[in-house]
Amino acid sequence: MTPDDAVQGALCTHMGREFAAHFQYLAMSAWLEDEGLPELAGFFARQAAEEHMHGMKFFRYLVDTGRAMHLPALDAPASGFASVESLVAAALAQEQQVTQWIGELVHLAREHRDLATEAFLQWFVTEQVEEVATMHELLQVVRHAGPSLLLVEDYVARRRPGTPAA
Ligand SMILES: [Fe+2]
Ligand SMILES: [Fe+2]
Repeated sequence: MTPDDAVQGALCTHMGREFAAHFQYLAMSAWLEDEGLPELAGFFARQAAEEHMHGMKFFRYLVDTGRAMHLPALDAPASGFASVESLVAAALAQEQQVTQWIGELVHLAREHRDLATEAFLQWFVTEQVEEVATMHELLQVVRHAGPSLLLVEDYVARRRPGTPAA
């Protein structure tokens, strides 16, 4: 056992959670496509791509620090949603859960005096603030729109990357 074994295991576990988030957002995107909401579907597809990028950051960090690679089994994502509101609420809950997990990882790295891992995780601490804020705002917009989901489509379209500001 090397002193960083607990950190290695936790990093691998969390890498799996980021890839699980990738899959969860893909499932949400597919459901939204099926509902005829292409802008929301595109939003969740972009979120899915971001989660894949997050997973790859952990993958690269494990490689760069010479740690053993263990790719964990992933649970199938939830795929049936009662409404757009419940879907977005689930996405917000997921981001809040990830924020908590990242915080626990930071504390673990500190406990093991693993400064490099603590520095690596700082990017995620900042990223999670944005992720939670984005999803919280989307949930509020969905609630304000009520049954007028085309208003949500418009909100998402105006914020799509590459869209010129009106
Ligand atoms: Fe993530
Ligand atoms: Fe995220």
